[in-house]
Amino acid sequence: MTYNPQIAIIARVGAHQDFLRQGLDVRHCQTYDTPFGCSNPVHLFKYQDIDFAVLSRHGEDGYRVSAPFVNDRANLYALKTLGVEKILAWCAPGAINETMAPGDLVVPHDILDEGQQQPYTFFPHRGLGFVRQNPVFCPELRQAVIQTLQNGPLPLHPAAVYTATTGPRLETPAEIRKYRLLGGDLVGMTLVPEVFLARELELCYTALCYVVNYAEGVKDRPYQPGILFEGLATPEEIKRVQAVEAALG
Ligand code: HPA
Repeated sequence: MTYNPQIAIIARVGAHQDFLRQGLDVRHCQTYDTPFGCSNPVHLFKYQDIDFAVLSRHGEDGYRVSAPFVNDRANLYALKTLGVEKILAWCAPGAINETMAPGDLVVPHDILDEGQQQPYTFFPHRGLGFVRQNPVFCPELRQAVIQTLQNGPLPLHPAAVYTATTGPRLETPAEIRKYRLLGGDLVGMTLVPEVFLARELELCYTALCYVVNYAEGVKDRPYQPGILFEGLATPEEIKRVQAVEAALG
């Protein structure tokens, strides 16, 4: 059977399972060998007469690869090779802007790149000249996402500046204050270089963010000697996300 996915969703750990739970069958799943290494598994689904692809950046059954180690080039190259034209990129950043609370949805319109320059191009030895980034995200797909979600049950912010950091460490409070002064609303490690690489491949790419915590220093949090991920959201932030999820049923 041939598949012709024109749309892909790049999302969190095990994202394809959400579609399985909705009763859709995976028609096909495989990783792809690309000039940039092996892609993550790509799951191909069919909904009515629409073929679409789902790829989990960080792993299929647990958080196995942290953001700076995701092979964005292999993943996007594989999707492009499959014929994908539009990408909806799901991500879960922290909020610098306090009006964007954990549990809120945000459709960013711009990026502040404060990262450490990973391989940002498919053309590492010669570059690709001045690839335009205005607008950063695909306007048509952004508007479709906003229209679909604007009367939904979750608070939706239809614009935001996403500050991209490299990680895997979290930011210092001073860095977050700097990003706030520069106009950043969100901070995350996911969308860059993915969005810029997608542009090089002429893919229509937009992002949908689900806020999971306030960025470091935005709210008081108790000192925790442990350093890892569990400390990302405070119990209050987790409660708010759980309340939003419970309201959704
Ligand atoms: N900083 C960077 N990346 C993140 C954060 C954060 O606070 N939360 C989720 N991803």
